[in-house]
Amino acid sequence: MNNLEKTLSIIKPDAVERGLEKEIKDQFLNNDFKIVEEKKIQISKSEAEEFYKVHQTKPFYNDLCSYLSSGPIVVMILEKNNAILANRDLMGATDPKKAKDGTIRKKYGISIDKNSVHGSDSLENAEIEIKFFFKD
Ligand code: CDP
Ligand code: MG
Repeated sequence: MNNLEKTLSIIKPDAVERGLEKEIKDQFLNNDFKIVEEKKIQISKSEAEEFYKVHQTKPFYNDLCSYLSSGPIVVMILEKNNAILANRDLMGATDPKKAKDGTIRKKYGISIDKNSVHGSDSLENAEIEIKFFFKD
């Protein structure tokens, strides 16, 4: 069934820093995602806190927000049939050690916090996250 969706993807600072931007984008393109919009930016800590506010009670929240705002990131709107789930599958488990072979996090992730990519986890959050970065 046709179910074209848009999801938000972020190439996180650890991956941008290691020059993996193109390689990771190629993973999306090779898996039939269309990159509808993209920009390379650096966000402030307070923007990271807003973006990750669902995690505000978690013990890793402060480090997570410091980390996401620590260097340039690439934010993208990806489009594909069932894009949200397809991207979560392509990314792999949060902890790269637990991610399946062939997934982005398995290939490039360093640790649970430096796991190279973010992807929206639901239709509702995809809409919120896309608006967050691409307001216009
Ligand atoms: O990114 P994902 O949706 O797979 O995981 P999450 O549970 O929504 O957590 C958001 C981010 O917090 C993860 O991608 C990790 O970078 C970080 N995190 C962490 O540093 N330590 C944990 N124990 C869990 C998550
Ligand atoms: Mg998440």
